[in-house]
Formats: sequence, structure tokens, C-alpha cells
Amino acid sequence: MPESWSPNSWRAKPIQQVPTYSDQARLAEAERQLASSPPLVFAGEARRLEASLARVAEGRAFVLQGGDCAESFAEFRADTIRDTFRVMLQMAVVLTYGAAMPVVKVGRMAGQFAKPRSADTETVGGVTLPSYRGDIVNGIDFTAEARIPDPDRMVRAYNQSAATLNLLRAFAQGGYADLHKVHQWTLGFLAGSLQGKLYEDLANRLSETLAFMGACGMTSETTPQIRETEFFTSHEALLLPYEQALTRVDSTSGDWYDCSAHMLWIGERTRQPDGAHVEFLRGVKNPIGFKAGPGTSGDDILRLLDLLNPENRPGRMTIITRMGAEILSERLPALIRTVQREGRSVVWSCDPMHANTVKAASGYKTRPFDRILAEARAFFAVHKAEGSHAGGVHFEMTGQDVTECLGGTMAITEDGLADRYDTHCDPRLNATQALELAFLIADQLKADRQQKRAGAHAAAQ
Ligand code: PEP
Ligand code: CO
Repeated sequence: MPESWSPNSWRAKPIQQVPTYSDQARLAEAERQLASSPPLVFAGEARRLEASLARVAEGRAFVLQGGDCAESFAEFRADTIRDTFRVMLQMAVVLTYGAAMPVVKVGRMAGQFAKPRSADTETVGGVTLPSYRGDIVNGIDFTAEARIPDPDRMVRAYNQSAATLNLLRAFAQGGYADLHKVHQWTLGFLAGSLQGKLYEDLANRLSETLAFMGACGMTSETTPQIRETEFFTSHEALLLPYEQALTRVDSTSGDWYDCSAHMLWIGERTRQPDGAHVEFLRGVKNPIGFKAGPGTSGDDILRLLDLLNPENRPGRMTIITRMGAEILSERLPALIRTVQREGRSVVWSCDPMHANTVKAASGYKTRPFDRILAEARAFFAVHKAEGSHAGGVHFEMTGQDVTECLGGTMAITEDGLADRYDTHCDPRLNATQALELAFLIADQLKADRQQKRAGAHAAAQ
């Protein structure tokens, strides 16, 4: 890393998507308070995630990243955290079966508050106000007062993240995630649905396998992998005063870690190579990622990899493509070839959400399930054709029974969107849609695996 990095060196760089705080003294006080508060995660945990992601980069594991588009103060409840966590456990079981590989679980949780916006202001009925930038910055209500950026919100977001993480750790390691509970992760409203039935079948098979393993002496008591799981946190590193305040030196390695989450990513709007966000993230040792939208070139990717991962450390970099199915099919092959030609180690992940947002006639921002699925399928098809590993998926999703994305077997219609449209930002897959997607992807992974095996068998004949 060049000498000149420090946790505040980003302040000398051009920056996008920053709120303008009018009360600088209160901002400084909030930063001071955060800087003297305990870290949310430890460096050793971030290193464990990097090691897991290195296995993904090598084609030996798969990563599932998911959660809210924006966490909110209003939706802060134990049941929303638990439900997102358990849908992710269900999806991970489905994908583990499909891929026959370990699935690394990373939540967009416990810190995913700050939002980039396409415009600085929003106009409703002739009134123009600053845009909502996430609960960590300002309020969602369309009033002049709510939209004033308030530094104290950073402290509240930190405290909410600490409580969320505490619960996630308890669920992951305190018995809830024990594979013997696979039947109990089912959410009530899944009962009677096709996904509920498919999941039930899978859970039955898993229970039988566990009974067999138990008979061989591998039980929850003897085998921690059965009893507990690892669950990591991540968010977009957008609000840099917050990220800087939680950045600490790790006493064992002497390296800097952003201890607000295990993994951080740079959004599509803030990945300028000479900009503040790239400057900040190049100096912290956490695993990091960046979004790659439709306009991303091979040179853009190499430039970012040079800056962010000059040592080419496996597991350090995740490239999260979000282009829409057609553009992805057209452009991803060249990007993969560039990365392969240059011998760079990356995790390729697919965000099939952010290029598939449309406005319904009723005015709701929504996403058609079929387009989300089409982008995910295109991602797997391109990687298969290029001989690279389709490493993971990145979803905006919730365990709640919301009506924000169109379609799926539940067939949510434009008229139905208004029923339970609760998101604070982008439309999320509900639990049934998320599980449906996991099954469809798992089928594809399984078919690819069988084809590969058949090919290897034929070659050996
Ligand atoms: C997001 O992940 O919520 C987001 C804003 O994505 P992108 O930067 O890809 O638009
Ligand atoms: Co979003």
C-alpha cells in the first residue's frame, strides 16, 4: 500500500453522495463518540471471512449475500432480524445441496443504512426537499425538518447495529442454526406454497442424513459444524465519517480494519478511482467489493483491482455485477477474460436487483421476478461458457411477507404492490420469492455439476 494512506486520507479526495451537515460541532461530537465506542466486529473475524471468500474465488465455495436495501429505525425488531436470518439459512441449505459446496453467508445487515441517490433533491407536488439518504443520515418523511442531515443518527445506527449483530451472533451460535432445526426455520406463510413443499422435502432428506450421521457418532454435541453456523455482516461503505470513526488498528497484525462490518463494498455511484470511497477502502484490510454496472469496462476493473488489491490477495475482492440480463450476456465475457488474462483473483457475484428496477403504473418502484431470474441465469450461463466460477449472489430480500417485487409463484401483481410495500428504499424479494430463486439457482447448479461429472466420466472412458 502506498505510504500516504490514513483513515482520514479520503478527506482530501473528491467525494460523491455526501450529506451536508450544517452543525459541524455536532458532527465532530458524534464522530468522537463513535471513535471511542467498541468495535462491532474483530479483525480476526474479517480474516476468517476473507479465507472463506478465497475458497469462493478458487471455485470451492459459494457466497450468499442478502438483506434489506436499507435498514431502518422503524423496522428494528427481533422478528424482522430473525426472519431474514432464517430465510438466509433456508436458502443456504438449498444452495448447499445444489452446489454441493459450502455456502458463505453474508447479511446486508447490522449497518446497511446509508443510501446513494440518483438526485440530491426530491420534488413532490411542487415542493422540493433534499433526498432521503437512509436513516443514518436523515428521515424518510417528506418534511423539511426530517430531511435535515442529523449527525446523531450515526450514533443511533451504531447502537442498532450492535444490537442486531448481538442477536445474529446468538442465532448463529446459540443453537437456532443447528441443522437439526432445519424444519423449524420454515416461516408460517410458506405453508401450502410450492416453495414450502419443496423446502419440506429437502428438510426431510437432510433430517434423514443427520440421523445417519448421528448413528455414526456425528451429532450436534460432537460436531460444531452441525450445531452452529458462521454469519457475517456487510454494508455499502458510503458514509465515510461513520466508517472512519469505526476504523481501528488490529493489535495482532498492526493492520487497519473497518470494524463496522466484516465486509464492505463500494457502490456503483462512488467507485471513481481517484475518489474518496476508493481511497478509504484501499487502506482497510477487510474483504471488500465493488458494484459493476452496465458501463464497466475491463480497464475500469483492472484499475480498481490495482488500487484496492495490489497484492492480489485471494478473498479480498468481490466484483458484484448488476447490468441486466441482456447487457450482462453481452459484456461479462470480456470482463471475465480480462481478469483471467491478468491472473487476478476475484469472487464474481451477481446482483440481479439493481439493474431491474422499474416504475409500476401506480408509481411504486418495483422489480419483476422474471427479470431478476433472467439476470441470475445469464450470470451462470456466461461463467459456465467462460470456464470461470459463478461465485455467488447478492439479493435485496427480507423474511417478511412483503409485496414489493412483481411475480414469482405467488404472482404479485401491480395492483397487489400496495398491500405490504414497506421498504425504505428499493423493492425487496419477500421470503417466498427469495426461496424460489434459491431453488431455481440450485437446480441450475446441480445440472451444471452433473454435466461436468458426465463430461469427466466420458473423458476417462
Ligand atoms: C445497493 O446495493 O443498495 C445499491 C445502491 O446498489 P448500486 O450501488 O449497485 O446501485
Ligand atoms: Co438497493
